[in-house]
Amino acid sequence: MPFSSPIPLALDRGSGVPLARQLATGVREQVVGGVLPVGRRLPSTRALATDLGVSRSITEQAYDQLTAEGWLESRRGSGTYVAAGAGPRRAHRRTPPQAPDSGLLRLDTGTPWIDARHRAAWRRAWRDVSVATPPRAYDDPAGLPELRDELAGHLARTRGLTCDPDEILVTSGTIGGLSQVLSALPPGRVAHEDPGYRAAAEAIRADGRAIRDVPATEPPDHLGGCVAAYVTPAHQHPLGPVMSGADRLLLLAAARRAGAVVIEDDYDSEFRYDVAPVPALAALDRDVVAYLGTTSKTVAPSMRLGWLVAPATLHRRILERREITHDQPAWPVQRAFVSLLRDGYVDQVVRTARRVYAARAERVVAALRGLAEPIQPVAGMYVTVLLPPATARRVAESARDAGFELPLLRDYCRTAQRSGVIIGFGGCTDAELDRALAAIIRGLTG
Ligand SMILES: Cc1ncc(COP(=O)(O)O)c(C=O)c1O
Repeated sequence: MPFSSPIPLALDRGSGVPLARQLATGVREQVVGGVLPVGRRLPSTRALATDLGVSRSITEQAYDQLTAEGWLESRRGSGTYVAAGAGPRRAHRRTPPQAPDSGLLRLDTGTPWIDARHRAAWRRAWRDVSVATPPRAYDDPAGLPELRDELAGHLARTRGLTCDPDEILVTSGTIGGLSQVLSALPPGRVAHEDPGYRAAAEAIRADGRAIRDVPATEPPDHLGGCVAAYVTPAHQHPLGPVMSGADRLLLLAAARRAGAVVIEDDYDSEFRYDVAPVPALAALDRDVVAYLGTTSKTVAPSMRLGWLVAPATLHRRILERREITHDQPAWPVQRAFVSLLRDGYVDQVVRTARRVYAARAERVVAALRGLAEPIQPVAGMYVTVLLPPATARRVAESARDAGFELPLLRDYCRTAQRSGVIIGFGGCTDAELDRALAAIIRGLTG
């Protein structure tokens, strides 16, 4: 381990304590405190003497003393090092808390399907990032300009949402964007679908706001007392329907009347099976809708990257704050996503995954035919099946016995009384899905 910085020490020439002893004490404290870790090479006695402005005999005496005490060791021809075993003793090394590993495969709604191209595309993206030079200072607070250019094209092509790259803010995923929208809104309640996306509800509560529960498939036609309404119009999470054109217009009119913002979470509209995705709600009214997109379903939720297209006043407030806080995603992650987009990987994986999801959704519906009524899946990587509470529990237990964890619809409800199970099929193989379906059928018929 090379020595890379001088030892930070101050010697007090007026204290009357011999300089060699002061030096030995200072180095010893740093070894004991772990500031100089085991194996760290120390500067040569000559270099340290020059650095501290003392004679070399002082540094030699200090090193000799510490070597004799066992804190340092000298290696012939190589230098002086902090001795093995000289480091601070820790009674316990704290291991980070870990979720108990149930050994079950969770059929959740959030793990996207990938294939071998994922790894190769990431390798190419990181190689690309590795030869680029990061900006020396804080980067553009709105997000990487070339990424915003790519996103503007992507949104116009795929979501019918025409906007200038300067109207886009790159975010740390949907929840990062949602938190920034909330923090720029005046005080007040936020309407939220029930059942609905739990992370969004948590972000609203974390912002110190009360939630007004709104039945998931009946968007509110009045928003009095609310400053915003959070919705998933392209694919209601977790029930699945698409918000109708009439409901879209009612919601926008209600928001206009109340002076509220509609927060559109467009998390998986890329994966519409049968027809092209319904255009974004924001395409109907840019002045009222704050649009949130994410890479979590197309690339990986671990990426923590998304985008926000907000009404002008909100955009300005968020941007002004980011100019001070620099609260934008890390440069390498943004840069890597630019590579994944330009490389064509994102379009390719979306195309294939859409086919895989459509086939798996059909497999689920066919397997359960005559036994249960799944809500007709039209998009995405999960199917929701409404069931009486006792049946839902029995199905989940049967799945558990076969090694699968099945989300219960009840866990997504706040005041709504809906029960059933959610079968997520992005993160499993076809064979695993078939095994899970066999267990679900046993639960339904047992
Ligand atoms: C409804 C909904 N919105 C958004 C997301 C993604 O959120 P984020 O971009 O913060 O990962 C998910 C992921 O499961 C989701 O289910």
